Amino acid sequence: MSVPHKQHVMEFLEEMDEDAEAIGAVNTLVRTERGYKGYNTDGAGFERALREAGIGISGRTCILLGAGGAAKAAAYVLAREGAEHVYILNRKEERAAELAAYMNGLFNRSVMWPMALEAYSSIPYIKGGYLAVQSTSVGMEPHRDRAIIEDERFYEMIHTGVDVVYTPARTRFMKMVEAAGGRAVNGLDMLLYQGIIAYELWNPQVKVDGKTIREARALIQEQLSERAPGGRKQNLIFIGFMGAGKTSVGEAYARACNMPLIDTDQRIEEAAGMAISRIFAEQGEEAFRKLETSVLEELLANTEGAVISVGGGLPLREENRILLKKLGTVVYLDVSPDTVMARIGSDVSDRPMLQGRDVRERITGLLAYRRPVYLEASHVIVDVNGRSVDEIVEEIRRRADG
Ligand code: S3P
Repeated sequence: MSVPHKQHVMEFLEEMDEDAEAIGAVNTLVRTERGYKGYNTDGAGFERALREAGIGISGRTCILLGAGGAAKAAAYVLAREGAEHVYILNRKEERAAELAAYMNGLFNRSVMWPMALEAYSSIPYIKGGYLAVQSTSVGMEPHRDRAIIEDERFYEMIHTGVDVVYTPARTRFMKMVEAAGGRAVNGLDMLLYQGIIAYELWNPQVKVDGKTIREARALIQEQLSERAPGGRKQNLIFIGFMGAGKTSVGEAYARACNMPLIDTDQRIEEAAGMAISRIFAEQGEEAFRKLETSVLEELLANTEGAVISVGGGLPLREENRILLKKLGTVVYLDVSPDTVMARIGSDVSDRPMLQGRDVRERITGLLAYRRPVYLEASHVIVDVNGRSVDEIVEEIRRRADG
């Protein structure tokens, strides 16, 4: 159940459990003889996820980022489990103040300290570092490449960072915690355990065992891994003009992500038993384009989780563009005529599309015609001019898989 239903449903309930009452939200309904009883398993899920990960709360000094619904469940558990002190940082300071006052009242001790988000640098240094809980949606789509606080110095104070976000599996917040030497976990186990606890409430005779929990976790991970329509593991496809770096970026990306690499030109040459320039010379461009389509069809039928680099002209056919988008995430490596010229201008002997008197003119003309087609065919556009392969791979990883 999601916000705002988690609150609205409360007026229809016969009874509420203590956690739901305290957190002020319900995510699980259990039918009783008198009517429905409302539970909140988010807090218990958070508590269990931390416990299973060996992250202690009792006596810890904590930082809670955010003051929304997820923060409330986390704040409740932190206070209940004996955190010594929790700084609540929120963009709107009043909301942090409200949450702090509420929890301090509930537990009858000054455990929560509200602050404006920008005031993070005034948090004092403590030996051993803080347990930080990131409870906002920053780090998820459409803010995947952001962290709620971007200052590296902040992360030096963090001993353990817990992000409630679980997709992407490794958020920028987590990366920054790790880069500063801390330990980071995501919100996947919180999601898992709140579900398990709900399941056990519905089936009181059942205690979900460790093996089932592991299987359920694997299933969720499988579901969350990026997929093409039809439930296949996502492929990553590089398109772009000759010389854009489809092969070198493809190779580096495949290596970095431990994925197999497929090159459509290579597939065609293997199938035809001859070089592309010979296919062009003997059978013409149209025959080559047909071969490209059949390679794509074959890939769509039997390939998943691969990096695929395709020939520069492959997206020109509309049917190929449709096939490409079905096949996976399409990344366009955007290159200028100058860069292409610098990379391949001096030798175009094996490039049938660049034959003719003036190579630069040929490149400029073809690129002007093709660029809108590439843009239309792609999900992600990456400017590759003047950038190293590593930089490009890093950007794509950030944007395409987190
Ligand atoms: C072509 C690009 C080539 C190859 C063929 C046609 C094109 O691939 O498929 O020569 O029309 O742009 P690369 O872009 O990998 O060089």
